[in-house]
Amino acid sequence: MNVPRPNNLDAYWMPYSDNKYFKANPRMIARAEGMSYFTADGAEILDGTAGLWCCNAGHGRVQIKEAIQKQAAILDYAPTFQLGHPIAFEAAARIAELTPDGMDKVFFTNSGSESADTALKIALAYHKARGESSRVRLIGRERGYHGVGFGGMSVGGIGGNRKQFGALLPYVDHLPHTHGIEANRFARGMPEEGAHLADALENLVALHGAETIAAVMVEPIAGSTGVLVPPRGYLERLRALCTKHGILLIFDEVITGFGRIGTNFGAERLGVTPDIMTMAKGLTNAAVPMGAVAVRNGVYDAIVEGAPGGIELFHGYTYSGHPLAAAAAIATMELHREEDLPGRARAIEPLWQEATHSLRDLPNVIDIRDYGLIAGIELAPRAGKPGHRAMEVFRRCFDAGVLIRVTGDIIALSPPLIIEPKHIDRLYGTLGEAIRAEAA
Ligand SMILES: Cc1ncc(COP(=O)(O)O)c(C=O)c1O
Repeated sequence: MNVPRPNNLDAYWMPYSDNKYFKANPRMIARAEGMSYFTADGAEILDGTAGLWCCNAGHGRVQIKEAIQKQAAILDYAPTFQLGHPIAFEAAARIAELTPDGMDKVFFTNSGSESADTALKIALAYHKARGESSRVRLIGRERGYHGVGFGGMSVGGIGGNRKQFGALLPYVDHLPHTHGIEANRFARGMPEEGAHLADALENLVALHGAETIAAVMVEPIAGSTGVLVPPRGYLERLRALCTKHGILLIFDEVITGFGRIGTNFGAERLGVTPDIMTMAKGLTNAAVPMGAVAVRNGVYDAIVEGAPGGIELFHGYTYSGHPLAAAAAIATMELHREEDLPGRARAIEPLWQEATHSLRDLPNVIDIRDYGLIAGIELAPRAGKPGHRAMEVFRRCFDAGVLIRVTGDIIALSPPLIIEPKHIDRLYGTLGEAIRAEAA
């Protein structure tokens, strides 16, 4: 197959990358199919991360490709400001079939970051529309990741993502993260201890006054920070406290959406329904960028039905509901339905969990966490060199034909939902060897 071989790496400023290292040691992906990537030299790399938690249906899915091609020939682009095109409405209706009951209104964005900022803006506009303009405070959680816009970054709680960028948004506060409880180490699935950490919201209410708080935004399962599964009962308590104090609960479902934990959305399996949920990534299987925000009908009604006339929400993107993305989304959702990808994920979850926890006794493994088809394996950092050990494991795995992801010294795995037992064996076999090789 003829794949491009660039000979000049200078111009591209790569995102979230050690540009200098990469350009001296490029690891280049040229094509993908099924569970695998292929390098320009033809080496096969097993995808243990569904790209960046996004190619949930596997790579190169023909139905998605054909839907994009067909749509490109019909309508390349049309505005969605004061105009419409049918496929955007169809995509929204299809999403609304998958979201929890009563969350039937869908706003389109182009990424998870835009979805996070859109959700926060909708929460602010909702309170204003109802005459509670004092509710301007946004609450996130330590170690939360909500993308890189100013809203998501400010409400997010990962220090490394914030420290280069000054003061960020005002009127933001954070709940404590849920990690570090000794009894939860090596927990399988949902850890037992820590539901009480949600009660920290009462402290923030006491500190700021409920009448100043618009929304709480959390990932149902925190991914980017290195896989933090909520303690049993934690999300229920957070839901109850938000309801008690008139605060909107936003779930950032950018990684938990579209089958990742065995249901269409995390809310379904975790049994807690938010007021607003964000999504992106798996929505189009990442074939075309697209994100979305689904809201409870009452949130939409307050803003849209409550408006005097004219534009109700002064927000939107040139590419909101882009025809190619909408076509990819519909084809992706159809694939999920036809192949019951959430069910497939659930069926293989016990094997996945067993394989994940089989790494427990390897050198420097200090914790393992899992839920659905997600795994986090935490390594002890090298003295004075945080992140170094895991990065070396990443490079070893890649060179041995397996793609993993690392954040700090945590290895995060999130394979396509079409993973089979033989892939699980290979993924964990290669990873185990790499962890052993970096024992020193
Ligand atoms: C929970 C969550 N929210 C938001 C984002 C940002 O998405 P994007 O990179 O598409 O802007 C991510 C990306 O990993 C995410 O995991």
